[in-house]
Amino acid sequence: MEKQWWHSAVVYQVYPRSFCDSSGDGNGDLLGIISKLDYLQTLGIDLIWLSPVYLSPMKDNGYDIADYQAIDPRFGGLEDMRELIAQAKQRNIGIMMDLVLNHSSDQHEWFKQSRQSRDNPYRDYYIWRDQPSELRSIFGGSAWQYDPQTEQYYCHLFADAQPDLNWENPQVAKEIHQMINWWTEQGVAGFRLDVIDLIGKQIDQGITENGPRLHPLLQQMHQACFKGKALVTVGETWGATPELAKLYSDPARQELSMVFQFEHAAIDWHPQHGKWQPQPFNVVALKQVLSKWQTTFKGDGWNALFWNNHDLPRIVSRWGNDQQYRQRSAKLFATLLHGMQGTPYIYQGEEIAMTNVRFEQLEDYDDIEITNNYQEKVVEQQSLSHQQFMQGVYASGRDNARTPMQWDASANGGFSSGQPWLKINPNYTEINVAAALNEPQSVFYHYQQLIALRKSSEYSDTLIYGSYQLLLPEHPQVFAYLRQYQQQRLLVVANVSELDQRLSFELKAKQVILNNLQQAKGAVQHLSALQLAPYQAIIYELE
Ligand code: GLC
Repeated sequence: MEKQWWHSAVVYQVYPRSFCDSSGDGNGDLLGIISKLDYLQTLGIDLIWLSPVYLSPMKDNGYDIADYQAIDPRFGGLEDMRELIAQAKQRNIGIMMDLVLNHSSDQHEWFKQSRQSRDNPYRDYYIWRDQPSELRSIFGGSAWQYDPQTEQYYCHLFADAQPDLNWENPQVAKEIHQMINWWTEQGVAGFRLDVIDLIGKQIDQGITENGPRLHPLLQQMHQACFKGKALVTVGETWGATPELAKLYSDPARQELSMVFQFEHAAIDWHPQHGKWQPQPFNVVALKQVLSKWQTTFKGDGWNALFWNNHDLPRIVSRWGNDQQYRQRSAKLFATLLHGMQGTPYIYQGEEIAMTNVRFEQLEDYDDIEITNNYQEKVVEQQSLSHQQFMQGVYASGRDNARTPMQWDASANGGFSSGQPWLKINPNYTEINVAAALNEPQSVFYHYQQLIALRKSSEYSDTLIYGSYQLLLPEHPQVFAYLRQYQQQRLLVVANVSELDQRLSFELKAKQVILNNLQQAKGAVQHLSALQLAPYQAIIYELE
């Protein structure tokens, strides 16, 4: 496989509205991010995936873009953006912009024109029909909105304020390519492509995901925007299977560097109610899914590794224990992920084990997915009770990830001197960056060590390129796997439970590289009689 610079990179996702507010208006901003670059450099990351900072009415927190080449005043201006790119570069950190190409905001100039009249030159930038189909919006309700001005319906797979762009129209692709190239000229290192598997849709056939035009469109985009430019690109593809992921990320096909697959992120979703009624967590199922992905690519694709993002609940609350074993279980999930092959992504706050939040009132939640689905499932269809839905929100709601970053124990967690746009998690007095930096055994330093191991240690090649083999596939609580590169072998073993475990491996340890429990090294030296405490995770080098 031809090596690429981003194979060894570690990415950190910043959700700008919730990261750091320098102006005191309650919204995070670009100057706030700049003020935290030293912190990110200390962590050791190479890239920042910046969730949208473009001009936006914030119906979906920036994933509704009104101008792709302007910065929303809440976040600053283009000068601040240039400053962020430059300051990050000085610290060897690249910026990945978030491209939301499936839809725009209804406040985008294109849509304002499009809805004016049926013969407006921008009419075909969007998808208009005389009659709505049965198609549902991902945020609840019909995917069609009637527009009285021209007496037709437009398609929106997300909120009605997010009309879908018409990728059947070559003019749309042309404009988007120009915009992407303009961002590349500004010096960004790459792009994350939002719900990109929807752009090849054939709406009249009811095909939204993985439509027939998807890969031709991506190849065209590659030719026009990415080719020969050392950019890194990652697609958000909820429907990706290993076979589909190869279509996107096989270097020979010239589409994207890698994609986010979501099979593991949805393993506990309910067949009917999805994330709103999660099922018990099953370690064996998780092992199966991730191991399948670990052994999928043979140079014909690349994994993006993640537990969290701005759409998912916090991993330590979801599958760990965010009370008694908060730090230990957070370190366990970090170890499991960073021990795998692929490019790891860390979501802001994950490195200090921030947790889910529980607000009593529905009104305290901002997320349009929560409010729209409440309307559909509780109010209209009555398929879930208020109580049931709130339990779903506590477990899976997107605002779990979006509460303000907890920097220190001062008012508003040091996030803002004003009133935060979304309430902060009350546990900020205890869980915050300042506390983590002061405590040598904190989750932060565990992430720092994992990043250093991957990037600049004698184990780098094995962690980045080594083969993967799952051990104990049927064990209900233990996740263990081998990585091998040339003569070097590593064992990652993790007890994903609150029970003590006794294990016997026919393997010989050379040394312990990382252990999330402070223990004399001799205590865990013998793999033929290994005892693991609750949520203990260890990386070994083997003989
Ligand atoms: C993606 C984003 C999500 C957004 C949606 C619509 O899934 O990650 O936050 O709501 O696309 O743009």
